[in-house]
Amino acid sequence: MSNTIKHIGVLTSGGDAPGMNAAIRSVVRTSIFNKREVTGIQQGYCGLIDNKFVSLQSHSVSKIISLGGTFLKSSRCPIFQTPEGRAQAIDNVRKAGIDALVVIGGDGSFRGAHLLSQEFGFPVVGVPATIDNDIYGTDFTIGFDTALNTAVQAIDKLRDTADSHNLVFFVEVMGRDAGFIALHSSIATGAEATLVPEFQTDIKKLCAYLEWERRKNKTSGIVIVAEGGEQGGAVEIAQKVKEILPEYDTRVTTLGHIQRGGSPSCHDRVLASILGYSAVSALLEGKTDVMIGQKNGQIVYTPFVEACSRHNKINKKWHEISYILSL
Ligand code: ADP
Ligand code: F6P
Repeated sequence: MSNTIKHIGVLTSGGDAPGMNAAIRSVVRTSIFNKREVTGIQQGYCGLIDNKFVSLQSHSVSKIISLGGTFLKSSRCPIFQTPEGRAQAIDNVRKAGIDALVVIGGDGSFRGAHLLSQEFGFPVVGVPATIDNDIYGTDFTIGFDTALNTAVQAIDKLRDTADSHNLVFFVEVMGRDAGFIALHSSIATGAEATLVPEFQTDIKKLCAYLEWERRKNKTSGIVIVAEGGEQGGAVEIAQKVKEILPEYDTRVTTLGHIQRGGSPSCHDRVLASILGYSAVSALLEGKTDVMIGQKNGQIVYTPFVEACSRHNKINKKWHEISYILSL
């Protein structure tokens, strides 16, 4: 166990994700268990630059395991992308006596963390937290399960209205460039079609499919559209469909940031707790410049460079299955 790391800093960065608080709690309590001091950095990398440091005790993280968002707050911090910004950050961290960092965030945050390690030899490990689930080196990211359940609950409700009024709903879900929330929520709600950025959308085929479904007396429909597709979001897709099928009564719902909030699911709380514990353990074992993930139930360490340059891919077969099951 490392004797050089006596004081650990923890921050949350990028888009917030349900379970970030559970991860912070785990980092704090594991550090204290190992007799290490622990400091929270507020507002992600901006807090490093602006000296927003708070000393954390065990009671500081009481009752936060069930809370959404991040009590340390998060940010997207462009100034950290400059060499001057990072130099200021590392200067502040060292002056605060912090010996190592746990960065909880997505791949953008890990790009920044990698630079801290490369440019200054500073010990840093990452914990993957984003609703998008697109990070290489872990089966699931913290927040994905909760976001997915939020989307599924909303889509189930839209289905009631779609059925009652013979409507076709185009529901836009988040995911940045990845279709995980779209594909999983589609299977879980029996959506008629799923448009993901990973595959090209043929609008004519989509319309032919919707017509075929209607001929089978399916009077309503749910089309899930992941943001980030080449043909646009739900508004654009609905417009294009309406041009070909003007007689269809359509509605568009964008779920938006509702997917980022709320109390984390049991799955996300457990994942965050295990990854937070493993992050501190990794630092104390001398690991650095790596992301902590869980694959097939095992803790795995992926170099930041790899975690940032590769992406988890949706399962092509599952896309086909979602289509077969909605026939
Ligand atoms: P996420 O971590 O959820 O992917 P972002 O992509 O917004 O979110 O990244 C979070 C923050 O990480 C950015 O605001 C910036 O401060 C830092 N960051 C992202 N990319 C880089 C980079 N190439 N170099 C340095 N810092 C970066
Ligand atoms: O990465 C999480 C995420 O919610 C993406 O799904 C989405 O594309 C993006 O962040 C939205 O970011 P912002 O809240 O900064 O608009």
